Amino acid sequence: MIHTVSDCQPTPFSKVSDPRGNLTFVEGERDVPFPIRRAYWIYGVPGGEERGGHAYRRLHEVIIALSGSFEVHVDDGSRRATHLLSRGYVGLFVPNMIWRQLESFSTNAVCLILASEHYDEDDYIRDYGDFRALQERRP
Ligand code: TYD
Repeated sequence: MIHTVSDCQPTPFSKVSDPRGNLTFVEGERDVPFPIRRAYWIYGVPGGEERGGHAYRRLHEVIIALSGSFEVHVDDGSRRATHLLSRGYVGLFVPNMIWRQLESFSTNAVCLILASEHYDEDDYIRDYGDFRALQERRP
């Protein structure tokens, strides 16, 4: 399946709020469209630093701003979009073969990423020229 930036939409998860605070949960294959094989989080990002700057051949992700805020720039080779994530109950689906860059991290931002695959460096496309070349070879 060929994905475009239109597939990258911020989507709210369930949120259970009561006087004790809020609770949000995510279940693989229910709240995100894949089995969750890995979770990782990015935090302590110094002002002005950027993360990401790559695409994946197979892996799909959901990106959540658990705390603070940051921008996610997505690019499918033809079109680009930017999403500001700032709510702990909202996930941004970023499927395979979408170039992504995370930037403008606020102080104390915590970025949780749920991934469809275990870590595999061979799945990364880290060169933007390679990414464009692979996109252009697709039917
Ligand atoms: P990288 O994916 O390049 O970070 P980002 O996309 O956030 O800028 O990963 C940074 C380093 O961490 C790299 O050396 C690979 C390693 N790493 C793992 O070992 N396991 C993981 O699950 C992830 C996401 C990264």
